[in-house]
Amino acid sequence: MPVTETITPALDLTYIRAQFPSLAQTVNGHPAAFLDGPGGTQVPQRVIDAISGYLRHDNANTGGAYATSRHTDAMIAEARGAMADFLHCAADEVVFGPNMTTLTFAMSRAIGRELKPGDEIVVTRLDHDANVSPWLAMAEDRGVTVRWAEIHDADCTLDMADLASKINSKTKLVAAGYASNAVGTINPVKEIVALAHASGALAYIDAVHYGPHGLIDVAALDCDFLVCSTYKFFGPHMGVLFGKREHLQRLRPYKVRPNTNAIPNCWEWGTLNHECIAGIAACVEYIADLGRGVTNGATNRTTDKRVPHPSRLSKGGNDAAGTSENEGGGTERRAAIAAAYAAIHEHERALLERMMTGLKRIPSLKIYGITDPARFHERCATLAVRIENHTPLELSTKLGERGFFTWDGNYYALNLTEHLDVEKSGGFLRIGLVHYNTIDEVNRLLTAMREIVGA
Ligand SMILES: Cc1ncc(COP(=O)(O)O)c(C=O)c1O
Repeated sequence: MPVTETITPALDLTYIRAQFPSLAQTVNGHPAAFLDGPGGTQVPQRVIDAISGYLRHDNANTGGAYATSRHTDAMIAEARGAMADFLHCAADEVVFGPNMTTLTFAMSRAIGRELKPGDEIVVTRLDHDANVSPWLAMAEDRGVTVRWAEIHDADCTLDMADLASKINSKTKLVAAGYASNAVGTINPVKEIVALAHASGALAYIDAVHYGPHGLIDVAALDCDFLVCSTYKFFGPHMGVLFGKREHLQRLRPYKVRPNTNAIPNCWEWGTLNHECIAGIAACVEYIADLGRGVTNGATNRTTDKRVPHPSRLSKGGNDAAGTSENEGGGTERRAAIAAAYAAIHEHERALLERMMTGLKRIPSLKIYGITDPARFHERCATLAVRIENHTPLELSTKLGERGFFTWDGNYYALNLTEHLDVEKSGGFLRIGLVHYNTIDEVNRLLTAMREIVGA
């Protein structure tokens, strides 16, 4: 198997890998290969610096009449503006929280306040349980009927005809994933949102797994809510929720009385993780800079072009798309983020092709999900496999000893592993590729897997 870099990605992999200090680690003398991105990605130095810089200089609570508190308010406004550019919305539609799961439990309870027995919601068999259990719990509390959208077992894609058949005039909400964290399938989210809206239902989209792989555009999707987690796209351990302004204003959050009633802060409870929020602005800028590098050529890449967005916060006057020129530089950053994802897509596609070709040659190995290169636009570079006579845990342990970080089990995509009857026997081995992975890592992993299974 050749071990040299044979593709010429639009991304400058040398520059990229130099941004991430953790990538230089070794395990038992082997270079570490981080193929665990779906469980959480590594962070570039600028994110580490932003977090420690905040703690060193500005560590304070919000709303105080003194310097560090004012800096904290400005920093949070800047991070909100960055996420508004990342998601393509207005800053007051961006809610920060500890993680996607907590945000979804909170929002499901608030949405549940509007529902009554006889109402229906739809969840899918493909989703991570964080976009299922909160809705099941809310449905139990409110006497709401839950309908399940099934999958095509052969390629682990959502059965859209089945989904459509589960939506009717009683449906109040459709909860669906953007991409599967287990098998990599990318769902036709725009179509799902349109189906929900045609019946007057809300669409709640889990974009946690899609975040590192593709450009999220809530304005184009027209979704009512979309959740993601910054630790999956090169940032700190935090969750972010987009909600259309009309919903954030109409719905009643469970909250303490002294907290403001103004959006988005009324959805943010207690003191947030300020140091991590400082890291969010840095991670969005990292991605934007990738795009600037692609557009301008690597030598013109800046290290930091953060633009403060005080005008984005709590004005309520921005358009939903958040692209107006008076938004303090958002249009330029949004374009840079889009350019970054175009290049990321190209690089990940090359990695996926190489990985898929190599995996198909390993005897007794089964790949779950889409395997036909002609349909790679329907999936991301997250692969779930099983090999006869080897448990996923055994494989990931042996790979781990050789420096390859993979996952075994269900990764909370429990409904899928149960449905495919792999839950009892250890789930899948998951190999997750993101833009900082290389063809060399893919080749080395394939060689190691062949050695482990004696092929
Ligand atoms: C697709 C998907 N949805 C939701 C979650 C839950 O995210 P969080 O850890 O931010 O609660 C994960 C985490 O792995 C995920 O992969």
